Amino acid sequence: MLALAYDQETYNPQPHSHQKISNQLYENGWSVIDDYLPYRTISELLKESQQLMSDKKFKDAGINNRIIDKDQRTDQTAWINPDTCYHTQSQVIQQLERLRLYLNRENQLGLFDLELHASIYPTDGFYKKHFDNFQKSSSRTLTIVLYLNQQWEPQDGGQLRIYLKNNMSINIDPTGGRLVTFFSNNFEHEVLTTNTERYSLTGWFRRSDLPI
Ligand code: OGA
Ligand code: MN
Repeated sequence: MLALAYDQETYNPQPHSHQKISNQLYENGWSVIDDYLPYRTISELLKESQQLMSDKKFKDAGINNRIIDKDQRTDQTAWINPDTCYHTQSQVIQQLERLRLYLNRENQLGLFDLELHASIYPTDGFYKKHFDNFQKSSSRTLTIVLYLNQQWEPQDGGQLRIYLKNNMSINIDPTGGRLVTFFSNNFEHEVLTTNTERYSLTGWFRRSDLPI
């Protein structure tokens, strides 16, 4: 019983956060939720990313799946495989699965799976303005980013800038525990230069590519 209570406290998202995400997506096409997961969970996720780092699991991220273009992006990524990942990563995958089912039910999105990786931007890292779908594939439907730096200060940079209609944009600080969600095909976005190492989990809920 105690163990169960502990787990719930550690891993459950903030109450009603899935409902908030659903509403914000419906209204704006993007959503920002603070403290999606408790502080302790975010610390564990950060440690797991750092462990992947010391195990040399991170690779330079590519453009178009292959080409590595350091003028365009300088982050490193490590895919998170649900069968082999660390404990807390696995708990997060379960939460995101609940979010996927919630959004399918409430927003009728037909999301069928999740592709997830850990990301690290080194100091001076960035990712220039882009869409998340590379040319032919449009299966990435909803982008999700969970930030892991717990003491983020504005001077640390590394904001996510999302481009909206009418030449407007918003800058989102990558504060630990914050979950950002947006429709991948609707918003160009970029990661501004970060002045410290920047950790996150980044993923996409996908729809099937296959013709119906
Ligand atoms: C990406 C991306 C945004 C962020 O990995 O494609 O745009 O804030 N990430 O990390
Ligand atoms: Mn992106």
